[in-house]
Amino acid sequence: MTASIDWLEETHELHLRTEGFSYVVAVLESGALGGVHLGAPLRGGVSHRGLRTGEFHGFANRVGDPVPLEYPTAGTGDYRIPALVIQHADGSSVLDLRYVSHRIFAGKGRISGLPSTYVESDDEAASVEVLLRDDVSGIEVTLSYSVFRDVPGVARSARIRNGGTTRVRITTAMSAVQDLADADWTLVTLSGAWARERHVVERTLVPGRQSVSTTRGASSHQHNPFMLLKRAATTEDAGEAIGLSLVYSGNFVAEAEVDSFDTARVRIGINPEGFAWVLEPGDALATPEAVLVYSRNGIGGVSDAYHRLYRERLARGKWRDADRPLLVNNWEGTYFAFDEEKLVDMAIVARDLGLELFVLDDGWFGKRDDDTTSLGDWFVDRRKLPNGIDGLAKRITELGIGFGLWIEPEMVSERSELFAAHPDWAIGVPGRPRTPSRNQLVLDMGRPEIVDHLFGVLSDVLGGASISYVKWDMNRNITEPWSAALPADRQGELFHRYVLGVYELYRRLTERFPDILFESCAGGGGRFDPGLLAYAPQGWTSDDTDAVERLRIQWGTSLAYPLSSMGAHVSAVPNHQVARTTSIGMRAAVAFFGVFGYELDPTAMSAEERTIVREQVAFYKQWRPVLQGGRFVRLRSPFAAGGNETAWMAVSPDERRAVVGHYRVLNRPIPGPDRLRLRGLDADANYRVAVWPAKGSETERANSGVRGGDELMSAGLALGVEKAEAAARGDFAATLFTLEAE
Ligand code: DGJ
Repeated sequence: MTASIDWLEETHELHLRTEGFSYVVAVLESGALGGVHLGAPLRGGVSHRGLRTGEFHGFANRVGDPVPLEYPTAGTGDYRIPALVIQHADGSSVLDLRYVSHRIFAGKGRISGLPSTYVESDDEAASVEVLLRDDVSGIEVTLSYSVFRDVPGVARSARIRNGGTTRVRITTAMSAVQDLADADWTLVTLSGAWARERHVVERTLVPGRQSVSTTRGASSHQHNPFMLLKRAATTEDAGEAIGLSLVYSGNFVAEAEVDSFDTARVRIGINPEGFAWVLEPGDALATPEAVLVYSRNGIGGVSDAYHRLYRERLARGKWRDADRPLLVNNWEGTYFAFDEEKLVDMAIVARDLGLELFVLDDGWFGKRDDDTTSLGDWFVDRRKLPNGIDGLAKRITELGIGFGLWIEPEMVSERSELFAAHPDWAIGVPGRPRTPSRNQLVLDMGRPEIVDHLFGVLSDVLGGASISYVKWDMNRNITEPWSAALPADRQGELFHRYVLGVYELYRRLTERFPDILFESCAGGGGRFDPGLLAYAPQGWTSDDTDAVERLRIQWGTSLAYPLSSMGAHVSAVPNHQVARTTSIGMRAAVAFFGVFGYELDPTAMSAEERTIVREQVAFYKQWRPVLQGGRFVRLRSPFAAGGNETAWMAVSPDERRAVVGHYRVLNRPIPGPDRLRLRGLDADANYRVAVWPAKGSETERANSGVRGGDELMSAGLALGVEKAEAAARGDFAATLFTLEAE
């Protein structure tokens, strides 16, 4: 199916259609742009205006009716959460946006200064730009909509231009607002904290507003710029679900409001709290992109759509489609205490184990023996690395593996040469103390001279050595927001300008170093969002590498993000975040479902562990295309009541190969028969099923051999095991199955 957009001249409707999806908007009698439909595909060429709900036909002009609108404004009778609030020169905030014109075109545009989804050829998407204007003030809003060939959803953004003669102040500018005909939805968000990011949280919509948001300056550990609506009966693979995702890395809000008529309005965009943007006559502001997805095939259908779009048409550069290297990172292995010899010793063992990349984390620059100093001083600490980064990189790459480096560009330590030279580059209000956090301050990334400086010094570092990977960290949030570069009436621009500056630095560095794989990080997963995926195709999912904790973190993250974006490492035990001891097999069986690696000191591993790791590395290499590029299917949720079991699988795009992971947190005696039904296989294919690693267990005997895809999806794998096997298994157990079509 191709993506198409039709304009019905008679009824003034735009119908955007693609595989499994229709989106219809109409110009109302008032001239406003009204919402008609987001959901299942509708017939083309005919009017669907009859689907409009909420228009009250009893009296003319009754205010407060739930009229579905595409970009609602306050002050003219719509009292629900608005898309746009602008304060005019006279202090009023009334806006009456009316349709002026539209333009349909093949392909998709980009948003200047902001990351967005894209196409590689014009036949991949169809787009329309609708121009609206408030005649009194001259404010113009261009709403952009794109539908992609293979994605049941629509990408939306807005551009607000001051076409008037006086300066105005934008205080709210959403990326998308969506009115829904009823409020019978459960709201699902991804919420948590450091070391337990993106846990699945569900709540029923009730009258009033419900939202997740951040004012921290980053998309945050606490909430993700994503929300999902599902029906009460919706499961992973059946029923209606709608996803909203924001391609943005800063302060956002994702909000739902149920009104007194039991209709729902949802919106997503830059958080209005703390935001204000001045537009001089002729100036414009572009919002980030929101991607709305609809599925009739459950939550999994929403995830499938985001995975495909974000992996293939948001991520960019040579690493988008390339096999991601198996890495070892020294952070938990050494923290700040290392020298060149130690690192080379670690790299030698890593190379011998089959790993492909050695990453040097924090502590290589300035005088950084702990976290109290040196951020901003991006020159090598010769006490630790006498031959410089280039000398170390040379020794490591000569071993036959790649070399990667950690940086934290957006930060400055008060004890640093950079801070001594430019104290005003750090965000803070003069005359007020700055709230400390990890002994560091945040650079005012909205200032072009700071971005220029960082681009210069980091280009020297990255260009001066053989570096094939960069981990870009960000370890604190913004407090005392105030910029020395902005006048008083523009201080509300700081947070958004900060994000634009981060994107600009990312853009320049990724363009200058196209061969380097960038991984984003923010104290683990504190900025794991679609915005950064456009530059860094993978992100550090969480600092919590405990296998049990990771089940929930990776499950939740997978609602919106593909496996190819999730850094997942095996670390040492007892685990450094929760002190839990799990087997190295369990740790790997969880981390395999992501971009796999190790986060430990390989020289400290026993001979037995090294043998196991060698096998794990070989296994991952063999299954990497499935585990990084396959379809991820969630089978049993760690968020279900009890949460003792998790199961998921990855299936190759041609459905010929699959890896299934089943995890049990606490053991139970004589568990009884249980079958794990698989999904996403070819019902007509015959699969050779094996348990990995083979140990001759009862589970293995019960499942090994050739099984039909139909049988595996309707009856499933046998999980029940004999009493003896259950007794021997212990807590924190994982079983991996591999399936190969014959
Ligand atoms: C936080 C990151 O999440 C860790 O992986 C590590 O890079 C530290 N920062 C280093 O300071």
